Amino acid sequence: MKIEAILTPAELPALAKRDLGDAACLVFDVLRATSTFVNALHNGARAIVPVSEIAEALAFRQKQPDVLLGGERDGVRIRAAQTGGIDFDLGNSPCEYTAKKVRGKTIVSTTTNGTRALRACAGSKTVLAASFLNLTATAEFIKNVQPVQLLLVCAGTRENTALEDVLAAGALCEILLGKSLTPALSPPGRKEGVLQMSDSAEITRRVYAEAKLDLFATVCTSENARRLLAIPELRDDVSFCLRRDTCPLVAKMDADGTIHSK
Ligand code: MLT
Repeated sequence: MKIEAILTPAELPALAKRDLGDAACLVFDVLRATSTFVNALHNGARAIVPVSEIAEALAFRQKQPDVLLGGERDGVRIRAAQTGGIDFDLGNSPCEYTAKKVRGKTIVSTTTNGTRALRACAGSKTVLAASFLNLTATAEFIKNVQPVQLLLVCAGTRENTALEDVLAAGALCEILLGKSLTPALSPPGRKEGVLQMSDSAEITRRVYAEAKLDLFATVCTSENARRLLAIPELRDDVSFCLRRDTCPLVAKMDADGTIHSK
């Protein structure tokens, strides 16, 4: 398995030109889209449909009036003024996605980076929404599937790399390497049964290895965390999204673009 990390959203358009027929893409948008989706599925949501644009979410609702609309622009819930009259039901805070609100529901979501990153991976064999909340379950799934290529897709913040996504990708590498019988950096060319770390994946692993000593403090220095911490009703999202393995599920995007819990 060759592990590669996509560290910035600027790299996403190139994915469409690659042959990802044998690849698994793990999309990390720790603050907050993939954490929110994982938590929603854990609380009994039937499915998540990630879409890139507000207009796509509205079109979906027209066809299927019982879906919930969720997501954010500039971090906050999408309101009637942005849609021509319809308030979204939910923002992008994982804490909003309680069992009471989401059990049995399909949620159509559009966010600034997370849903776009998921859509950009649609051509690959396997696409998973990954987060600290379901990290070990996701890593175990990958160990069983053993994809030829593993892409750790860090969704980022606007056009930039997001530290918290890099850290989660590194934490996942650590789990995979921990159980590996082979060294972290195996020689290029050897494919069977070994993990080949690209430089980009190795960067995530090394950054996490240092940050894990105080993960919360490190993440609090990130652009996304600072933005959320400055908004009283969203500040708890930061610690919520760093909880490890509280949602032991695999969030898999099917060929029709719908994410289900496996
Ligand atoms: C995104 O998709 O860009 C984020 O999850 C942003 C946010 O939740 O504020």
